[in-house]
Amino acid sequence: MHDFESKVGEAMAAPQNQGEMADADAVGTVGSPECGDMMRMWLKFTEKDGKKVIDRASFQAFGCQTAIAVASVATKLLQGKTAEEARHLSAQDLAGDLGTLPPMKIHCGQLVEGALRNALDPSETTQTKPQNSLIADIHSAKPQGIRIVPLTD
Ligand code: FES
Repeated sequence: MHDFESKVGEAMAAPQNQGEMADADAVGTVGSPECGDMMRMWLKFTEKDGKKVIDRASFQAFGCQTAIAVASVATKLLQGKTAEEARHLSAQDLAGDLGTLPPMKIHCGQLVEGALRNALDPSETTQTKPQNSLIADIHSAKPQGIRIVPLTD
């Protein structure tokens, strides 16, 4: 557990791929019913060896340190994966080198998993234009376009 926390601290010191992506192909937003935190993830695809793979991923979060650390690791880990491969990644998979998510932090990893799934699921990704800043949407008087998907279990 200590090791996990120190790795979260390291990831938090320099979070990767934070911020909105103007040219994203897909975007997903989720809110956690457990703690009220929110995360949005953007994905950009590219063609590689005849396959469509994730070129870049980025995120914005109103979340705890663990959620941000997992998202930082996940956005790196997603590069080069097909949508199908990405869809099979669990919260624990997305935590990568951070190590085993402590029981109290599993929902933090699931926030990242939920944002990713929401971005990957075409039925959920109905926007033709990627959404912009999560912060701007939250502070906007008319937060249309935000899709809040409560995470189950
Ligand atoms: Fe809310 Fe971690 S406590 S995502």
